[in-house]
Amino acid sequence: MRRAVRAAFIGLLSSLLSLGSAAHADKYPSRPITIVVPFAAGGPSDAMARILAERMKASLGEAVLVENVTGAGGSIGVGRAVRATPDGYTISFGHLGTHVCNGAIYRLGYDLVDDLEPVALLPSNPMIVVSKTAVPATTLGELLAWLKARPTPATAGTAGAGSGSHVAGLYFESLTGLKLQYVPYRGTAPALNDLVAGQIDLMIDQTSNSINQVRAGAIRAYAVTDDKRVESAPDIPTADEAGLPGFHMTLWSGLWVPKRTPTEVVIRLNAAVVEALNDSTVRKQLYNLGLQIPDTARLAPEALGAWQKAEIAKWWPLIKAADVKVE
Ligand code: MLT
Repeated sequence: MRRAVRAAFIGLLSSLLSLGSAAHADKYPSRPITIVVPFAAGGPSDAMARILAERMKASLGEAVLVENVTGAGGSIGVGRAVRATPDGYTISFGHLGTHVCNGAIYRLGYDLVDDLEPVALLPSNPMIVVSKTAVPATTLGELLAWLKARPTPATAGTAGAGSGSHVAGLYFESLTGLKLQYVPYRGTAPALNDLVAGQIDLMIDQTSNSINQVRAGAIRAYAVTDDKRVESAPDIPTADEAGLPGFHMTLWSGLWVPKRTPTEVVIRLNAAVVEALNDSTVRKQLYNLGLQIPDTARLAPEALGAWQKAEIAKWWPLIKAADVKVE
């Protein structure tokens, strides 16, 4: 009897709770939403988040703010979002590094798949090999020869262990047999500033971060890691063309919310992202940065979930084999 009463009580409680969350989802959003970007302001993640946030605000009717929570290859910012109340007011921005590779590098204290709910896949971009202008090389072949001839490894700026720029560096090292001396920053915005100032030698950066400094002649570009050239920067050869065949890496980004966020809220956020990515002004801004927008079929939350799992299966063995030490 007592067991029956308890079961009835639990049933009533869970109906009340789901009624509560449905009512809450109904009014969503009714206050500002925060996107947690796990890297420094002014970098590629921050830039994309801000372009999207501006347009999502128009769809959602509430301010969409960007908060930069940096450090440890983005794992601190993702942790902040994982632990937030699952009500749709805190969104986790991340990418191949933060939401895939970091799981094989750090003891995160959260699970990248089980503790987050995918919202939408975001644009991707190839990496770009860039150096300070003082490096005496004008082609990728000359850069590789310069790196080989050095008595000590060249310095390469990254956004920390597991970030896109670091994983691209590891990939570059494995293809060339060269060693780099990594210099970790809280994002590739400060790393790029130091590259322009000549404080570090090179970066294997997201194209969207470096492209404007390349256009301005403040740094030198050697190759993009795609099988085709970037449409908005057609002078830069692919790594295949420049003499490093097979150096292909596309850094994709995405949005997630904490697990147990109501499904209606996820759907609403997804619709706002899809609208933003279909907006011609937004598309133009992303295109100028060398970013590629995913096809509509890939924008569903389930598509991001499946893609993230497939990327974990692909990258974790490679990262574990590289035996990355966390600084
Ligand atoms: C950033 O915004 O700084 C980047 O996404 C960092 C990276 O992963 O290389």
